[in-house]
Amino acid sequence: MRIDRFMSLHLAINRRDVKLMLAQKRILIDGVVADDTLQVIDEFSRIVFDGQVLQASSPTYIMMNKPVGVVSATKDEQHKTVVDLLEYTESASLHIVGRLDLNSSGLLLLTNDSRWSRKLMKPEKKVSKVYRVTVGKPLTEAYISAFYEGMYFEYEDITTRPARLTIISEQVAEVTLVEGRYHQIKRMFGRFRNPVLALHRESIGGLLLDPELAPGESRPLKTEEIRQLS
Ligand code: URA
Repeated sequence: MRIDRFMSLHLAINRRDVKLMLAQKRILIDGVVADDTLQVIDEFSRIVFDGQVLQASSPTYIMMNKPVGVVSATKDEQHKTVVDLLEYTESASLHIVGRLDLNSSGLLLLTNDSRWSRKLMKPEKKVSKVYRVTVGKPLTEAYISAFYEGMYFEYEDITTRPARLTIISEQVAEVTLVEGRYHQIKRMFGRFRNPVLALHRESIGGLLLDPELAPGESRPLKTEEIRQLS
């Protein structure tokens, strides 16, 4: 967004007034006097007007080990949300990058950097998400080809992209998806009338859930982890 638009929205003034303020050198952007109405700022630019901070937030990236029974949302009337579990003071500005169902667990990312999360979730990016799935009935080789070939979902009128399924034990599989349709894994096993008993996300884009994190715990991403997913 341009600085003149930001200021006029923020202070409910017209852009001509902003031009005057810029000429009077009353606005600082990231510590530097601003003098150009065309200067572009983003959600993390520090904006100071007459010594008063109008905007100052830094990008935050968090991984959580989501427990079962907690909603992937910022607010919910009925259940505890993942944001309720955070200790971070700026948690109100965070959003979730790729939800998990109420009864799913594992790696969940939260951020206030919408450009980063949008890029990460772009369908063309085909970011792999790996899940460990426990089902109610024994698995067979037929699952592997059915998941790979894709399944037609009538409601969305789409065919799922090739998914990799590896049989780990009689009732446990590892499933890799490059998309995230509503209840996708449960619906795919549902085609075999095989109920999902447990669903745990192990990684996103090669980033593994930190084994040190107990269910409900979280930590900031490291610089190299942020870069890995950028
Ligand atoms: N697929 C599901 O069915 N649920 C999840 O939480 C994630 C993938």
